[in-house]
Order: sequence, then C-alpha cells, then structure tokens
Amino acid sequence: MSKITELNRRKFIKGAGMTALAGAAGAVATGAGTAAAQNSSSIPLLAGGKYDFDTPYNRVGSNCSRWDSPARRYPDGVFKYGMGVASMDFECAPCITEALTERVLHHNWGYLGSSQPLRDGIVKWNGERHGVDLAPDSITISDGVYPGVIAALRSFVPIGNKVLLTSPCYSGFYSMARAARVDTLDSQMRYVNGRYEVDWEDLESKMTPDVRAMIVCNPQNPTGNVWTQDELLRMGRLALEHNIVVLADEIHSDVIRSAHKYTPFASVPDEEVVNNSVSFNAISKTFNLAAMKNAYFYSKSPTMLARVNQYHRAELSTLGVVANEAAYQNGAEWFDQANVYLDDNHHFVESYVKEHMPSVGYTRNEGTFMTFLDFSRVIAAIDPDELAQHGKNTPEANFQDWLTHKSGVYLNPGSSYGTGGDGHMRMNVASSRLVLREVFDAMAEAVRKV
Ligand SMILES: Cc1ncc(COP(=O)(O)O)c(C=O)c1O
Repeated sequence: MSKITELNRRKFIKGAGMTALAGAAGAVATGAGTAAAQNSSSIPLLAGGKYDFDTPYNRVGSNCSRWDSPARRYPDGVFKYGMGVASMDFECAPCITEALTERVLHHNWGYLGSSQPLRDGIVKWNGERHGVDLAPDSITISDGVYPGVIAALRSFVPIGNKVLLTSPCYSGFYSMARAARVDTLDSQMRYVNGRYEVDWEDLESKMTPDVRAMIVCNPQNPTGNVWTQDELLRMGRLALEHNIVVLADEIHSDVIRSAHKYTPFASVPDEEVVNNSVSFNAISKTFNLAAMKNAYFYSKSPTMLARVNQYHRAELSTLGVVANEAAYQNGAEWFDQANVYLDDNHHFVESYVKEHMPSVGYTRNEGTFMTFLDFSRVIAAIDPDELAQHGKNTPEANFQDWLTHKSGVYLNPGSSYGTGGDGHMRMNVASSRLVLREVFDAMAEAVRKV
C-alpha cells in the first residue's frame, strides 16, 4: 500500500465510499454486485474484464482538485463526495505506472530531447481510432488544451473582438477568452426532445463581423452532445461564410457512448471547411493524465497552424511525456474497458434519476463522463431565504453549497457554463459504481426532504 493510501485510508473510509469500500471488497471477491445496489437498477455493479474499476481508489490526500479542493473549502467535514472537476477516480492503466516507474530509476531530469515518439503515438491513435490522417508536421505538441486555444484566440481574434460559443459550454472557454483579451458571445442551444440542439437561426444571427472565431466542442462539455457529421458541416459552412475560424476542442473525443460516433472536425467532407479550422486534443481525459500536462493541436492548413504557432509556447515535463507515450502505445485495452464501464455508469445514473429522483431532469449523454442534471424544480422548491443564506452569486452556486451541506455531494453549478446553464448542476460520473450509488442515495435523500 502506498504512503498516500496508508495515510488517508482512515479519512477516506470515514467520508467518501465507506460502504462502497466494504461493498467492493465483497463484491470483487465473489464476482457479483451487492443485492442492494442491484435492486435499484438493472445495471450490474461489476463490469468484469481484466481491470477493476469497481473497487474505489482512494485519491483523498493526493492533492487532487476533485476530492481535496472541496475538502479545503468545507473544513468542517460536511464535504464527502467530490463529483465535480473532470478527472476520473480510477487507478490509471498499469502500462503508465510501469513506464513512469522505469523512468524514475534514471536519476536525471534535465531538458527533454525529441518529441517524435509522442508525435508518432498521436498520429497512430487518431488514424486507427478515428480515421483521421495526420501528417506528423501538422501537429504542435502543447502542455494543455488551454495554451493552444489561447494562442489561437490571440492569433485570429483581435483584442476586444469576439469568439462565439454554443452554450451551455465548458466554463474554461470563458477564462481562455479572458486570457486572450477577447469577448465571448453565447448562442444558447435549444432543448428539443431530450437533446441539446444548435439554434441555427440564433447562431447565424450572431455571426457578426466582430466575431472572428467559434469554438466547436465535440463532445460538448457539459451537455454531452457528440455532434454528427451533418451538424459539424453546417456549423463549419456557416463559419466559413461569415469569415469565422473554427477552433474544434475535441479533448473528450475518446469518451463516446455506444451507438454514437465521434467525427473529427478535420475529417468532414469539405476541404474548405476543414482548412478553416484548428483542432485541439489530448488523451488526458482518455487516460486521466490531466496533471501530466500534455496535449496537441493540428490543422490541415499549414497557414492556420503557423498563425497559432506564432503565439504558442509550451514546455513539456519528462514524466508527462513518458506517461502519454505509454498510454498511446499500450493503453488501448485499458481505455476500451474503462469506456464500457463509463457507459454503464451513465445507464446507472439515468435509471437511478428516473426511478428515485423524479423532480430532477435527466439528459441522455452521447459522450464525455460528465452529466448535466436539471435541478431547477428542486432549487425553486427550496425556501429562497434558506438558499440565499449561502451567500453566493447565483442560485446554482448557492445550491452547490446547500447540497454539500445536506448530502456531502459536491457538484459544479450550471451557471458556470454560460447562458442556459441555470437550474443545472454538472456531475462527474467517472467513479466506481459503488461510490456513485452512495452519492445518489445521499442526494436523493436530500432532495426528497425539500
Ligand atoms: C472541453 C474542455 N476543454 C479543455 C479542457 C482543459 O484542457 P487542459 O487541461 O488540457 O488544458 C477541459 C477540461 O475539463 C475540457 O472539458
């Protein structure tokens, strides 16, 4: 057992995953889920297969933002479950730990040399998985999606001009725009038959001359859309017509639910549309390597790529490169199993919410390991004075605080995701299903009492 695990085990058992841990031990040993958990959903607890995603992996005390940051915000111990920030709770693919362990035994950490193996891994992964043919020299390696998008905004959008977003969308886009000193403009999506849809009329009406870039987030965080080829083409053609560059953020592109297909923007069948875009990606969501600081961007247009490169500078860390290379080379099997597990988690969440939390609105995700729950009826039913006591600047932020105090569950307030996020909370489902069940039981009880 590692020092971190040893040091924090008691704390973790006291808080998050207490019954989950106990349940997991039994369930894993017998190869079957607990009867109680299976009762509330037709989804079996255990995915089976080579890797164990059921046994909760204790991250408490490892300085992770998902579990440790809220604990600092709630020092009184009311916080129990970190279901916010988009990282997975699973133990990483063994090939990553093996590669890092081997590298650590070489005791020198001077500047890195070639990024060629990483580049080769990116080309192979995108070609084999997603059918996108990338020339190695069309790729720029970065230390995150943030720095790439910020560089692109600096390059394509003059200070004070605008970047267009279909909202609700990833909160980070607003901070990227701030860092590039450009303004954002939301085109709120429409909610049609349980799916978020682009409001085409609204989108086009907002394509004014001061809008110089548009971020297409595919899959879209937090609404979970996996955009079809037709939708991407339509967005791309509108953007081209209005002289707007497309920045395709595809960081969640591997986490796609069954029955859906990710279409890389750079593969849509219109060369002009493709040449008017830059794509941003990483396997940091795929393999939970966010703090290893590795990402990349590419464009089929050498001119566009050169323009972004002009404003971009990134330095990689040795361990980040080693971890990413190992994931590209040997991690596919781990991820494929993780993705099935995540899909089942979404099924679990859907059936749980529909069965036990009828006042909460559920939207069926197509991709990502996040879910965007509609708590507007719950928020409206809470005494406004009680909610206001939390002293935050939006009802959703007050509800975040309220829910943490009532259930121990910490979610992200929908108001952080732009226009249309009101009444909603974003939740991360990339955890052991045993933990998820505890989390939902705790939330359902709090909501039932309103
Ligand atoms: C859509 C999207 N883009 C970018 C990021 C952040 O990327 P990075 O950590 O590589 O800067 C996230 C993180 O959650 C995200 O969801």
